[in-house]
Amino acid sequence: MAAATQRYACQECGASHGKWTGRCDACGGWNTVVEEIPREQTPRGLVGAAGRRIELVELQGADRPAARLVIGIDELDRVVGGGLVAGSAFLVAGDPGIGKSTILLQAAAACARGGAACVYISGEESPEQVRLRARRLGLADAPLKLAAATSVRDILTSLEAAETPDVVIIDSIQTMFIDSLDSAPGSVAQVRGAAQELIRFAKRSGAVVILVGHVTKDGQIAGPRVLEHMVDTVLYFEGERSHQFRILRAVKNRFGPTDEIGVFKMTDAGLREVPNPSALFLSEHGRDISGAAVFAGVEGSRPVLVEIQALVAPSSLGTPRRAVVGWDSGRLAMVMAVLDARCGLSLGGNDVYLNVAGGLKISEPAADLAVAAALISAISGRPLPANSVTFGEVGLSGEIRQVNQSDVRLKEAAKLGFEKALMPRRKKTGPGDHGEPAAPLVVVEIARLADLVELLSGDR
Ligand code: TYD
Ligand code: MG
Repeated sequence: MAAATQRYACQECGASHGKWTGRCDACGGWNTVVEEIPREQTPRGLVGAAGRRIELVELQGADRPAARLVIGIDELDRVVGGGLVAGSAFLVAGDPGIGKSTILLQAAAACARGGAACVYISGEESPEQVRLRARRLGLADAPLKLAAATSVRDILTSLEAAETPDVVIIDSIQTMFIDSLDSAPGSVAQVRGAAQELIRFAKRSGAVVILVGHVTKDGQIAGPRVLEHMVDTVLYFEGERSHQFRILRAVKNRFGPTDEIGVFKMTDAGLREVPNPSALFLSEHGRDISGAAVFAGVEGSRPVLVEIQALVAPSSLGTPRRAVVGWDSGRLAMVMAVLDARCGLSLGGNDVYLNVAGGLKISEPAADLAVAAALISAISGRPLPANSVTFGEVGLSGEIRQVNQSDVRLKEAAKLGFEKALMPRRKKTGPGDHGEPAAPLVVVEIARLADLVELLSGDR
């Protein structure tokens, strides 16, 4: 067999191909496959030779509770599961300019002020620029070590030479390079290789390594997707750049929950925590406008109330437009299909716009009923009952299904002054049982989507 001297790798997902192709089979990306020089060939006859025998240990070994380094920024600590676990590797990914460097500088300064040894290595900014930013953020006095470097060899040599730091931040992994690899910085081979070395350093030394990764649609720069498998925790920093709110979401976490979010607000003095985000995503206008429903959602362990807005307008296009911000367009199509098939409410000739206020992205199916309510209200031009919240999952036959944590949702709604909840039927567990504890506000149980249509179009 002729030795393969050349290999092709997808810059989006990292899949390798034997020959060039215009479309990556693995991720479906177009024009993402580029030629790369392989790192090394797998040696033949691996057994014996220089192999070292590894020791197998019992599952019930002496367990040490993972030591956690508390950062001191509550929103951040909660997302990572209560602090940073020694020797773990993080990836903080997000669009350029969303605030990754800002939040990590704040986190590093907070750790350093708490007594941890922190190193912030920037491949994008000079120490002066980082200092300037720190001054703006009011962090100039934090005992934080800075460096501007991009060579992984230099970075590791310096880190090994000094006393091991507790936290090392690498901003960003796309700028790092290994001099023994031929590919250009930012290519999948370089990003993967650099990350591998830095993660190995974390495991070996016990330092927490936090890698910053840019997400970009541009095929030239390696997306951090290939890194997700390698690190222990992946955090996505998201938000609309035109909005103030930024949401830090754990999408993978070997040491904590993955459904937690941290909410921040970008101000001219950096990112500020938003400890009670519920009220944030409600619009500032009066609540008696048509086409708007307040969804009582839950993100991780916290309830979040958010306004869902719908606009329905006659379409002049052959294929009416469906535009969705902050929700899944597939789910919108499903809710519209159920409205059509089960309630006789057709939106066929209309453009439909759906927006989740404040730049939040919702993935809970519990938002179905709120979306349906906003749509029905937009069609009829009549507002929802005053001061009401809505939640529930819509099934294909038009039934409204229960969702988890109803009590948490109701409590939060009551706390924020809502008086009514449109929600699925509550459970009755046995004869003589009165079901769940009394709700803190008036509950309107909706069994079928058609009941909601009737409720919203009937006289009130
Ligand atoms: P940055 O952290 O540099 O983004 P990233 O590292 O993800 O590319 O954030 C850049 C944006 O944040 C920039 O548009 C300006 C804004 N910003 C503020 O609004 N206030 C601040 O105090 C700072 C430092 C940045
Ligand atoms: Mg940056």
